[in-house]
Amino acid sequence: MKMNSPIGLFDSGVGGLTVFREIVRLLPSEDVVYFGDVGRYPYGGRSKEIITQFTRQDIAFLLEHDVKFIICACNSASSVALEEVIGDYEIELIGVIEPGARAAVNKTKNSRIGIIGTHATIGSNAYAKVIHSLDSDMKVFSLACPLFVPLAEEAYIEKEATYLIAKDYLQTMHDVGIDTLVLGCTHYPLLKKVISEVMGDTVTLIDSGEETAKEVRQKLVKTNLINSKTSEIPPINGDYNFFVSDVPDKFSSIATRFLGHHMEKITRVDISRYPAKLEL
Ligand code: DGL
Repeated sequence: MKMNSPIGLFDSGVGGLTVFREIVRLLPSEDVVYFGDVGRYPYGGRSKEIITQFTRQDIAFLLEHDVKFIICACNSASSVALEEVIGDYEIELIGVIEPGARAAVNKTKNSRIGIIGTHATIGSNAYAKVIHSLDSDMKVFSLACPLFVPLAEEAYIEKEATYLIAKDYLQTMHDVGIDTLVLGCTHYPLLKKVISEVMGDTVTLIDSGEETAKEVRQKLVKTNLINSKTSEIPPINGDYNFFVSDVPDKFSSIATRFLGHHMEKITRVDISRYPAKLEL
């Protein structure tokens, strides 16, 4: 395994850029290959079988790029597919559920944790399972908030409509008295301001992407896989290559908004060429 190989990261589309942003912040010298499956987005309303097939193709694509580590940035894929596929690859693969769940358990004071995500993530109960494996006394309250994804994509960040929808969705979380809320979807960190205003300052928000980036850094340090550019003075910034499964235009404009600067190197790929089933 080469320390100077890129980190691979995949998502159903642009949402994984919230995780990418955290990786760049914590590991600025790492090269990253990002695959956004914009042609088949969204994953969040699909079945386990389909999401698992897409996940295998996304991983196969990244492996072709000689990555040293793979991050499944998509909560839906991390929830329903990762457990099934993880043992089939030699490369280290990390999803966003465990880091987010662990941070929530560490943060809560009243042992009442809320989870919000897509239908796939919430239906899988993945967060609750990890939380209960860490501490069986935790009370977990889960809720699908599917409208948050298009609102974030359409830049409805601080609009009245978004505030009203958030209030409506999150009322039950208020009622059950949680003190910690996991943003269990790539897009939700973009609505952090609205969600935190609705929940009030007694509730801590956990950004699974942020927690995942911290865990990636720890794992790279532990396995001596930190890019050698990190120790140069001054450290050299990473190289970023983006690949998408349909026209890059929308990805490019949303990415510019998500990251605050324009991105080059966005290439369209035919993801259907990659195996959707395990090749024996
Ligand atoms: N990336 C997905 C997730 O984190 C949200 C968008 C989708 O449904 O594909 O669950």
